[in-house]
Amino acid sequence: MSKVNAGILGTGHSYPKGVLTNADLEKIVDTSDEWITTRTGIKQRRKAAPDEYTSQFAVGASREAIERAGIDPAEIDLILCATVTPDQILPSTACLIQAELEAHKAAAMDIVAACSGFLYGLSIAGAMISGGQSKYVLVIGAEILTRYVDYTDRSTCVLFGDGAGAAILGPVESGRGILSVKIRSDGRYEKQLYAPGGGTKGGFTAETIARGDHFFKMKGHEVFKIAVRSMADISREVLCEAGLKAEDVDLFIPHQANQRITDAVSEMLKVDSSRVYSNIAMHGNTSSASIPIGLDECVEAGRVRQGDVILMASFGGGVTWSAVVMRW
Ligand code: UT7
Repeated sequence: MSKVNAGILGTGHSYPKGVLTNADLEKIVDTSDEWITTRTGIKQRRKAAPDEYTSQFAVGASREAIERAGIDPAEIDLILCATVTPDQILPSTACLIQAELEAHKAAAMDIVAACSGFLYGLSIAGAMISGGQSKYVLVIGAEILTRYVDYTDRSTCVLFGDGAGAAILGPVESGRGILSVKIRSDGRYEKQLYAPGGGTKGGFTAETIARGDHFFKMKGHEVFKIAVRSMADISREVLCEAGLKAEDVDLFIPHQANQRITDAVSEMLKVDSSRVYSNIAMHGNTSSASIPIGLDECVEAGRVRQGDVILMASFGGGVTWSAVVMRW
């Protein structure tokens, strides 16, 4: 029996109305628009209101993806929500999304792989579809990172934003869909990017909250170097496995962590900047949501045509990294 190919049938995205500009940050922390723009490329990021929560944006993005895929929520077999900022500890955000979508046939679970979560989800979805266990899989990347940002720490608070992106995967004809996907992690680098509070080890008490243990902490400069090398290496691996070269790539959507990371990885891969997507100026770093938001923006802008080769690569806390190459 020939293997079933898995591809993306529909995409969607959603984010809060609230905007936090560099000028707003200048008023609350010792930073400047000039520093943020030249060191990161970020001009603004979306910020959820106190009464907004992750699954609301995930549901908005998912509804768009489901409609564009032309399927009914009742046909979805599996819901994977990549997030490090869930609505609550239990149940998973994926289960809360399932209930809202009335996708009652599906199994649902979260993926905790930080910025690589969406591509981890594509990898699992691809395997489930190719293996015959699922026909339609909803993969979501959704975050409200601004809830876990310490607005007295200028080295992290200027970077992160909120939002969600989603994709419906299903069977596609031979030669299309996922051509190669790889996911990796290395837990020895835990302290490069982490939030120690809130779990069974770090605890969640008045003391840990006052100390800000639940806030993201990052060794930005070290993360930068590993991110560039890992994203370039794993991108080369998937291209090689798919029998493709950098010049075959019509569109490269890297995780949006820093414009300088995007530029360095694209240069190492020799993918011309005209074929690289960047939305970091408008969204900042939205972790697992950055790639699916970018993908859907490209679809909406008509930047993705049938037959195009699309490369996506990510790097995040864990540390985790991944890449996928697909033919649209
Ligand atoms: O999405 C998951 C993965 N995350 C990433 O990939 C992020 C990777 N890292 C980065 O994007 C960059 O390392 C940062 C944007 C976080 C920092 O940029 P950098 O060029 O690596 O700066 P740095 O940390 O080496 O700091 C340089 C200087 C320091 O001042 P001194 O010690 O040279 O006087 C910082 O204190 O810039 C200072 N600085 C700031 N100045 C103004 C750090 N943050 C700020 C700020 N405004 N917001």
